[in-house]
Amino acid sequence: MKTKSFTETLLAWYSVYGRDLPWRRTRDPYAIWLSEVILQQTRIAQGTAYWERFMQEFPTLEALAAAPQDRVLRLWEGLGYYSRARNLHEAARSIVASGGFPTTLEGIRALKGVGDYTAAAIGSIAFGLPAAVVDGNVYRVLSRYFGIETPVGTTAAKKEFTALAQSLLPAQAAGDFNQAIMDFGALQCTPASPDCLTCPLADTCRAHTSGRVAQLPVKAPKTTVQARYLSYIYLRCEGMTAIRQRGAGDIWQGLWEPLVLEHADAARRDDWPEWLAQSRLKLLQKDFRHQLTHRTLHTDFYVYETEQRPTLPADYRWIQERDLADYAKPRLFLRLLELL
Ligand code: ADE
Repeated sequence: MKTKSFTETLLAWYSVYGRDLPWRRTRDPYAIWLSEVILQQTRIAQGTAYWERFMQEFPTLEALAAAPQDRVLRLWEGLGYYSRARNLHEAARSIVASGGFPTTLEGIRALKGVGDYTAAAIGSIAFGLPAAVVDGNVYRVLSRYFGIETPVGTTAAKKEFTALAQSLLPAQAAGDFNQAIMDFGALQCTPASPDCLTCPLADTCRAHTSGRVAQLPVKAPKTTVQARYLSYIYLRCEGMTAIRQRGAGDIWQGLWEPLVLEHADAARRDDWPEWLAQSRLKLLQKDFRHQLTHRTLHTDFYVYETEQRPTLPADYRWIQERDLADYAKPRLFLRLLELL
C-alpha cells in the first residue's frame, strides 16, 4: 500500500513541479546521453548552457562522431575531467561504427564512460527500460521516506537502495519516475533545508514523522583515502614563468600555482596539452606524495624550457622568475622550486 502511494504521489508531484529541461522534450538517446554526461560534471543551470552549445554544434551522434577531438574538448572547456569528453567522443564513434544507439541496458552500459547510473538514466528516459537510477537524490529521498539508516556510500547501501528503487519503479513510467525522484530530491527534499511543510509525502515519511529528517541519510565515514594524480610543470621562457591564482571552492584558494595537470589514473596518459612536447619535459621528481585529509596527492614535478610562450588558459600570467617570492604558494609548488 505504502510503496504504491509513494510512487503515485511522486509522479503527481512531478507532473506539477518537474523541471522543464530541454532534453526532456526529446527521446533522442544521443541528446539524453549528452545531458547525463554533462550533469555528472555540473549543476542544471550551467549544464543546460553546455548542452545547448553541444547540440547546436553537434546536433546528431554522427556530427559528434565526425568532429575532431579538439573541437569537442574546446566545447567541454570549463567542465573539467576531460576524460569524460573524450569517452563521450569515443563512444559516439563506436556507436556510429556499430550502426546505431544500443537499445538494451547491457548495450548502453557497455559504452565507454557509462556506469550503472547513466545506463539506467538513458535506458529509462530514452527507451522506457525498467531500470531505476540511484544517485545522491535517490539515497536521500528513500532513506528519509522509509527511515533507512544504512550508511550511504557502502556496497550494502547501493544494493539495498537499488532494490528498493527498483521495487518502486512503475514499469510504464520508468523514465518519469527516475526524473521525478531526482527533481524531488533537488527541489523539495533537499539536503540541508527540505521543505517538509509543503511536502505531499510528509504524512507517511518515516523521517518526518519521527523527527529524523536532519539525521538522514546516514553517511558512511570516509575510510578510503582517494588518490589524485597531478603533474606540476614549471614553465620557463626567457627568465619568465607562468602562474595562476587558485579560485574559490577548492583547496588552496588564493594561492598561486604553476601549470598543473590532473590525470585520471597513475598511468598519467591523459590531459596533456597539445602544444607540450614530451621531449622537452624534464622530470625532476616522480610520485611525490602529499597527504590531505581525504586524499593523497601523487605528484610528478617537471621543468619545461621553451623559447616560445605556449598558449595557456586565460587565467595564467607570465611573471619574472625573480618575482616569484612575492606570490603565496602551496607546499607542492614550494617543493617544485626546491627541486629546481
Ligand atoms: N540530474 C542528472 N540527470 C537528471 C535528470 N534527468 N533529471 C533530473 N536531475 C538530473
